[in-house]
Amino acid sequence: MTMSKLLELLVAHSGQYVSGEMISRELNVSRTAIWKQIHKLEDQGYEIEASRRLGYKLISVPDKYSLDDLNEQLQTAAFGRSIHLFEQVDSTQNVAQKLAEEGAPEGTLVIAEQQLSGRGRMGRAWMSPKGKGVWMSLIMRPTIPVHFAPQLTLLTAVALCRSLARLTSLPIGIKWPNDLLIDGKKISGILLESTAEDARLRYVIAGVGISVNLASSDYPEEMQERVTSLRIASGERLSREAVIAAFMLEWEQLYTLYQAEGFAPVVTLWEALSVSLNKPARLTTPQGIIDGTPVALDESGAIAVRLEDGNVVLVFSAEMGEPVT
Ligand code: BTN
Repeated sequence: MTMSKLLELLVAHSGQYVSGEMISRELNVSRTAIWKQIHKLEDQGYEIEASRRLGYKLISVPDKYSLDDLNEQLQTAAFGRSIHLFEQVDSTQNVAQKLAEEGAPEGTLVIAEQQLSGRGRMGRAWMSPKGKGVWMSLIMRPTIPVHFAPQLTLLTAVALCRSLARLTSLPIGIKWPNDLLIDGKKISGILLESTAEDARLRYVIAGVGISVNLASSDYPEEMQERVTSLRIASGERLSREAVIAAFMLEWEQLYTLYQAEGFAPVVTLWEALSVSLNKPARLTTPQGIIDGTPVALDESGAIAVRLEDGNVVLVFSAEMGEPVT
């Protein structure tokens, strides 16, 4: 059986169930063969509802980026003005890094429908299924010393949070340093990778993953407790082009403000959106565990944590988790 025959049949009955029996008869194939092909279609981004009793129903076809649509919606001067769109990459970070080495200008944007080895912080993998989310990397060339690079991570989190909250009206907050959460569940991840020469940053690759249109079933069961998507949280599919355009505008505006006025305005915005402040937490740092209450964001991008004895320490890098009671 060719996959296109099965797809043709499902499309012809869009929105309705087609019984396994009927598919089997029409295409002259076994139930097992059908089930296998259905899985292949799902891997390609088709959403198909399966019912033991009723058969299969086509819910949606894969979403594809439209560069025309994206360019029409962009309102920025530089961010996203040169776009490199790929069907499939290992990681948009690698592609952007190569472009940066070749001299691509600030604002160059790499997006992919799918990443085969998307990476997250702390050496973790980042799931990036085809057509379901925004998997992107932006080249930045800030003229700041290396030790200020963490400020850009927080700036990116603020810009993303503001743009998504505006677009969806969902209650989105920032967990230090840069996870965006809805009701405690993660909807996006930010990974900044910088290349420096002496104490000067040559370029920064800002990688952002946004879970836009993933359904619960797109996540492995063990992740479902911890993650969500804009679609799951709002009940609606969103245009990925609209998400990127809104984010680029907010991001460029905040970056311009940062270059003119420094980090202070970003700190104020970050603190207002934070869900991590003034709540006891356990921070697992490379140097060990710290139990305390985060109270403020420091100018450097570190978080100030009040310990039980009243002392305040600065934490630069950690995983923030629930307090141990
Ligand atoms: C995290 O929360 O751990 C950060 C995840 C960052 C994922 C994005 S998706 C686009 C870009 N390419 C990657 O390989 N990673 C980042």
